Amino acid sequence: MTTPYTGPLLGWYACHARDLPWRAPGTTPWSVLVSEIMLQQTPVARVVPAHRDWLARWPTPPALAAEPAGEAVRQWGRLGYPRRALRLHETATIVTARYGGTVPADFDVLLALPGIGAYTAAAVASFAFGQRHAVLDTNVRRVLARLVTGRARPAATPSVAERRMAESLLPAEPAVAAQWSVAVMELGALVCSAASPLCTACPVARDCAWLAAGRPAQPAGAGRRAQRYDGTDRQCRGRLLAVLRDSRAPATDADFCAVWADQAQLARALDGLVADGLVDPLPDGRYALPGHGSRRSSPRPAQPTASS
Ligand code: ADE
Repeated sequence: MTTPYTGPLLGWYACHARDLPWRAPGTTPWSVLVSEIMLQQTPVARVVPAHRDWLARWPTPPALAAEPAGEAVRQWGRLGYPRRALRLHETATIVTARYGGTVPADFDVLLALPGIGAYTAAAVASFAFGQRHAVLDTNVRRVLARLVTGRARPAATPSVAERRMAESLLPAEPAVAAQWSVAVMELGALVCSAASPLCTACPVARDCAWLAAGRPAQPAGAGRRAQRYDGTDRQCRGRLLAVLRDSRAPATDADFCAVWADQAQLARALDGLVADGLVDPLPDGRYALPGHGSRRSSPRPAQPTASS
């Protein structure tokens, strides 16, 4: 089906799309997959250099699979949510063992890989392999909510009806549908933003239900609050991981104490990192990135030894 939006959207994208490395002609499916995992929870500006360095170090899944998982965690650096690095390493290992080192093109096979949900599987199948899938990230969902339903924001999670609506808008030709998806995503990032939409610059303003309705505000209480970071367990986990990333040697409790004062919080964060597989406890009581020493067989005690 050709919707009224297709021509203007594709024309706008051809003129205004950002020149991002994972969109360059000839980019590999692995490059697209890495970008999508990084972009799940990190803004484009921070992903660009991290993606470049990752691909320079590991240009293929087998290159990553050949190194310990801890190296993926180290290379992940300060991108945040570092379990993504572990999952990417697991995915590279599976792709190497089962798929000859080549990222699979099938949506369901992608969906079964660690760290790949419906959004990421659809994005990789579309952007790496030119397939036709509804790619429902937050930007796309906001654009479609405004354009089609006249609401300022989409619901918290995509419903079956929303997914059907998004699929019904996709152009029939798979390669065009893939272009359409990335064009809508880009429109959401550059024009139809959450806080300050630039309707005068929008190629589909004429057809927008939200604009026609006078841009009604979102109902009170439904907005996203900024998340606090300072002093949280997340910040503490980040500091502890940075100690391990920045050193080739395993860390001691004293090394961790030097970067975090609250001992109970430190112990909780360290337990969490061990439980998540991001940190290995060693038999001598020190800690290492995964795969960088032989693991202690029993879990560390619940109470902190860090202060002693
Ligand atoms: N291009 C392709 N996928 C993208 C994403 N997730 N965010 C921004 N730009 C993209």
